[in-house]
Amino acid sequence: MSKIVSGFSKLTKQEKIDWLTDNYFEKPITAKETLQQYWNDNRILQELHDDFIENSLSNFYFPFGIAPNFVIDGVDYTIPMVIEESSVVAAASMVAKFWSSRGGFKTKIIATTKVGQVHFIYRGDAAGLRFYFDKMKPQLLRATEPITENMRKRGGGILDIELRNKTSELANYYQIHATFETKDSMGANFINSCLEAIANEFKRPDIEIIMSILSNYVPECLVHAEVSCPIEELYEKDAELYAQKFIQTIQIANVEPHRAVTHNKGIMNGIDALVLATGNDFRAIEAGVHAYAARDGQYRSLSNAEIKEGIFRFWIDIPLALGTVGGLTKLHPLAKLSLKLLQNPSAEKLMRITAAAGLAQNFAALRALTTTGIQKGHMKLHLNNIIRLLDASEKEKEFLITHFENRTVTHNAVIKKYNEIKTLE
Ligand code: MEV
Repeated sequence: MSKIVSGFSKLTKQEKIDWLTDNYFEKPITAKETLQQYWNDNRILQELHDDFIENSLSNFYFPFGIAPNFVIDGVDYTIPMVIEESSVVAAASMVAKFWSSRGGFKTKIIATTKVGQVHFIYRGDAAGLRFYFDKMKPQLLRATEPITENMRKRGGGILDIELRNKTSELANYYQIHATFETKDSMGANFINSCLEAIANEFKRPDIEIIMSILSNYVPECLVHAEVSCPIEELYEKDAELYAQKFIQTIQIANVEPHRAVTHNKGIMNGIDALVLATGNDFRAIEAGVHAYAARDGQYRSLSNAEIKEGIFRFWIDIPLALGTVGGLTKLHPLAKLSLKLLQNPSAEKLMRITAAAGLAQNFAALRALTTTGIQKGHMKLHLNNIIRLLDASEKEKEFLITHFENRTVTHNAVIKKYNEIKTLE
């Protein structure tokens, strides 16, 4: 039976749920209950969430956790993190505490420029097009003035627009490449509206506008974060050897993309969690970060480390186009709370905090990998999750936790041990 439906968006929420559960589930009532148990009792709050997207049927919970003890540029922070992966928050907290007594994280904004492009096809003479663009440039900027007025008052706006000839890469392809300063907003809507106004003004019968859209590749919206300490303070024993091994993990990620992707994924554990908690667009951040990691043609580590004159230094330069106004930032009550928790930062401040969270997460992963191995910490939490599924009593839980303290945790091993103790009871 076909499941193609017309006019779906016009149905009520209940009708949508009925259609879905009747068409896709053997037990529609159970499916309905699962969806409905996540509805919020507060009708207004539920409606707010429903209105974020189309065809919303329920809410999908992720844990909202916090990592205290971050010292960033001399200020104490507790960082909100929205993430489902066990051990990420614990690792961030542990590393934050570690660096809090070693000077904390130091950060620097390198640049805050964002980019958007009008992509178009032009089959005529390139010199003629350049002449037309140069003549039109003031008019193109004027066409955006009603849109940029507020942004200009806040110190932002369009920085420049330039014509780029891309015909050597694709026949007849040109761009208007525009750069923006969007201050505390991520700026996607602002940039796209400006580009569409520019494209509209630039239009001519021989210029075929293909699209006008911001770029999530923002190598010039860049922040630096670092930590450093004398080598002997880095690790309780064999600190020199440990520091060397740590640096080697980065050297490996710089030459081996398979490792680099996982290395950077560890960084994104911290970054995405904070980006989500503050209502920012994590897909945009992810796309921009990974493109930056491959900027010289090979995908490499985003972080770096060195030892110089007895000092271990670990740092990251990362593009983060974040906002603290607009979008969901003030609309989602938990995003709003997260920003309050971070002392209502400017976008630049949030870039600094986020880079520190990413660096912390990377430090935790590399430290675990080069010492105890990653599974020890992971498995402790994994064990808790398995035990939770078993309906074990407090006594049984305690027994299992002690039993697996120095043993390998697998799903099967835990079930087997649980069944064994059950039969003994
Ligand atoms: C797991 O989520 C992240 C790590 O794999 C990162 C890394 O390997 O560096 C532990």
